[in-house]
Amino acid sequence: MNIGIIGSGHLGKALIAGLIKSGVAQEQIILNARTIETMEAVKRVYPHINATVSKKELVAVSDIIVIVVRAQNAGDVLTELSEMDLSGKTLVSFMAGVTLSDMRKMLHDKCGEYRLIRMMPNVAISFCRGVIGISCDNDLSGSDDVISLFRRLGYIISLPEEKLESITICAASGLAFAAYLMKAYRDSCDRLINDAAVSDEITTRVFENAIETVRSEDSTFEKLIEQISTKGGTTEAGISVLRDSSLNEILNQCLDAAYARVKGLKGD
Ligand SMILES: NC(=O)c1ccc[n+]([C@@H]2O[C@H](COP(=O)([O-])OP(=O)(O)OC[C@H]3O[C@@H](n4cnc5c(N)ncnc54)[C@H](OP(=O)(O)O)[C@@H]3O)[C@@H](O)[C@H]2O)c1
Repeated sequence: MNIGIIGSGHLGKALIAGLIKSGVAQEQIILNARTIETMEAVKRVYPHINATVSKKELVAVSDIIVIVVRAQNAGDVLTELSEMDLSGKTLVSFMAGVTLSDMRKMLHDKCGEYRLIRMMPNVAISFCRGVIGISCDNDLSGSDDVISLFRRLGYIISLPEEKLESITICAASGLAFAAYLMKAYRDSCDRLINDAAVSDEITTRVFENAIETVRSEDSTFEKLIEQISTKGGTTEAGISVLRDSSLNEILNQCLDAAYARVKGLKGD
């Protein structure tokens, strides 16, 4: 199975890394970028992938075509693809804010019978531990080959398209939100520790420890908090400050602002 990738920015590169890590041969990947320089930069890391500035060449040899450009470039890419025979191909869009119906409108009937799937991954697909939301306007049951390829890149959630942008916010943008929270915790620790490297290490380990504990059998976020918050002890004193704060309200505002922004993206 050959995989064509249109766009090699942050997510396009994460996809290439994840596919190769998951066992796809470099030779099975065909990359399309706007400039030779961009493609050469990727080929310095993966010398055996194929690269072309021609989308026609990419389409001709690819079974799956993944579109990884920004919403504002969707029109250009889809207009170009609409002139080609896409019969038997699967088009996968990673674009936030560009709906299946937007894409169907931009692709013409003369493209033939193609499958169209929207996926919303986060960049953790680069090390095969991503979160990927999937929506399709057809029955996904004929797409087992495609789904099993992407399943190798992380945790897959199939959901109605109107819910897909929630994955954009909670999982894709969520990685940056999580990093921001960890950074804030690191900065607070450093007020007590006064050694940036040690504060970094403690922060990443404490978050890892919390994740591993919660993932262990019979544990939950709530149970872990309760387990450590001894009555009248240090943890309880700190937790009560968090409980009385507007932290949840601030997080709601953060996710709402991001959600409003994704709803404003347009692909035409
Ligand atoms: N980054 C994430 O974590 C993330 C997560 C989920 C979904 N997404 C979605 O994935 C898409 C890409 O995001 P990104 O962060 O990778 O953006 P990015 O870093 O800006 O990369 C976009 C790439 O698309 C290329 N491009 C633009 N027009 C093109 C065309 N006509 N033909 C070929 N390549 C073209 C750009 O090339 P140039 O270098 O020449 O400009 C650039 O390399 C967006 O729609 C975004 O919503 C991103």
